[in-house]
Amino acid sequence: MSGSEFQLKKYAEEFNSVLRKFIDGINCKPQILADSLKYSLEIGGKRIRPSMMFAAGDLLGVESAELEPYALAIELIHTYSLIHDDLPEMDNDDYRRGQPSNHKVFGVGNAVLAGDGLLNTAYSVLLSQCGKGENHIAAAEFICDSAGIYGMIAGQSADLLHENDPHTDEDTLGFIYENKTAKMLTAPLVVPSILSGGKYYSEMKLFGSNFGCLFQLTDDILDEEGNFSSLGKTVGKDKKEGKCTAVGLFGLNGAKLRADVLADKCLKILEGIDGDTDFFKWLIEFVLSRRS
Ligand code: IPE
Ligand code: IPE
Ligand code: MG
Ligand code: MG
Ligand code: MG
Repeated sequence: MSGSEFQLKKYAEEFNSVLRKFIDGINCKPQILADSLKYSLEIGGKRIRPSMMFAAGDLLGVESAELEPYALAIELIHTYSLIHDDLPEMDNDDYRRGQPSNHKVFGVGNAVLAGDGLLNTAYSVLLSQCGKGENHIAAAEFICDSAGIYGMIAGQSADLLHENDPHTDEDTLGFIYENKTAKMLTAPLVVPSILSGGKYYSEMKLFGSNFGCLFQLTDDILDEEGNFSSLGKTVGKDKKEGKCTAVGLFGLNGAKLRADVLADKCLKILEGIDGDTDFFKWLIEFVLSRRS
């Protein structure tokens, strides 16, 4: 295992212990609400967003203890977005993180509410930090904007709008990638920057945007050529649902070429940062070659 791979494992473990405490504190009623919230949080996930936040904290000199509530909020929002993304009227996916999707276990109504519950709770977690000062408020605001109607929700709306749309082009795809995925992968980098007093703010934003698009590109490639056992979700769904993806627009090889271009762009952005960026360099390769 390389140093960076070990580091990723450590970041994810640190986050999982924060999440464990949060899960153990859930005692809402009725029981089915608590169970459905816990189910989606406990069935796994790579925890790449929290891990990126801790890594950016190490790079910019922000303690992970200060970042933990923000990492928790981002993972709660991400998990809610997956529950809703899988719903029959969205992507209609029966599996997530290797297990039946939330709505397959608890029903559509309860899955909608589990997503709503995770989102609301994320906002409470963010508000709990806002008494600490202006930077903390700005960090919370950045996450809200990334998740909201000028961010992830806009991307998901465009993703639905352009299903089976024969007129999609690179601009449509760019809007969808940037909003549905890249914004929630940019926030984990920008939050530590804001809390550090603005260190490398524009580099973090630009890296997050390109890295996030690369992440979605590889997600689309894996939907085409990955397998259920390592991905934990049904493959071949994008074609079936008529999704606007890089694979659909440029073919599998065209998508892979674009992934390489984006990876190079990410590396270039890192060159503008003084300090140890080895983890992020490795993370680019990790995403390029990921199977899960
Ligand atoms: C899946 O995200 C949704 C996309 C944005 C492509 P992840 O691949 O990070 O999912 P988990 O958290 O590991 O399950
Ligand atoms: C999901 O994109 C983006 C979200 C905001 C959840 P996909 O629909 O491609 O993600 P998967 O493949 O279901 O994880
Ligand atoms: Mg989707
Ligand atoms: Mg989906
Ligand atoms: Mg996908």
